[in-house]
Amino acid sequence: MEIKTILGDITKIECDAIVNAANTSLLGGGGVDGAIHRAAGPQLLEECRKLHGCDTGQAKITKGYRLPAKYVIHTPGPIWQGGNHGEAQLLADSYRSCMELAEAHGCAVVAFPSISTGVYHFPLDQASRIAVETLREFSAHAKAVREVLLVAFDAGTKEYYDRALASIGDAAAAPHSAALR
Ligand code: APR
Repeated sequence: MEIKTILGDITKIECDAIVNAANTSLLGGGGVDGAIHRAAGPQLLEECRKLHGCDTGQAKITKGYRLPAKYVIHTPGPIWQGGNHGEAQLLADSYRSCMELAEAHGCAVVAFPSISTGVYHFPLDQASRIAVETLREFSAHAKAVREVLLVAFDAGTKEYYDRALASIGDAAAAPHSAALR
């Protein structure tokens, strides 16, 4: 399974599934959540209403409607509260839950935004390492998913993910970093 970073707007990416950094209501919001709902059209919210929310770190899947992506996988990432409230584990859970749903739906290419690093204020250096470590671990048993795109909306964010890939990418079997303790 290949992991790549790209700079761009996730709503424009034609792939099997894009991930939405949602909130627990799944009823839309600002940031990437707002952009995805605007691009997908009103049917996305209609389907989301039937899902009755989603716990932090978990994920639920819908169709993509007017998006070029076939599916949207919605996951509420953790809100940063200083780092001692299980945020690292919950962020890892979000990435893992999305990958499990992507596998179950036979997705070959999945695109992630930088979950929790906007409105939820998760520090980018930690979040990018957790994302790459979790995806690297998952790749050991991925069958359907063969490519993961980490989509940064700005160059500064992309730099963090490039750095995380460069350092963790080479030590794929490295044990969990402190960030996950
Ligand atoms: N494509 C890709 N990435 C985007 C896009 C886009 N169109 N728009 C924003 N982003 C980036 C942000 O720049 C940030 O790097 O997504 C990352 C996550 O930021 P947020 O969207 O603020 O998500 P998050 O920090 O997880 O907060 C989630 O914000 O929008 C609300 O309803 C959402 O309550 C939830 C909270």
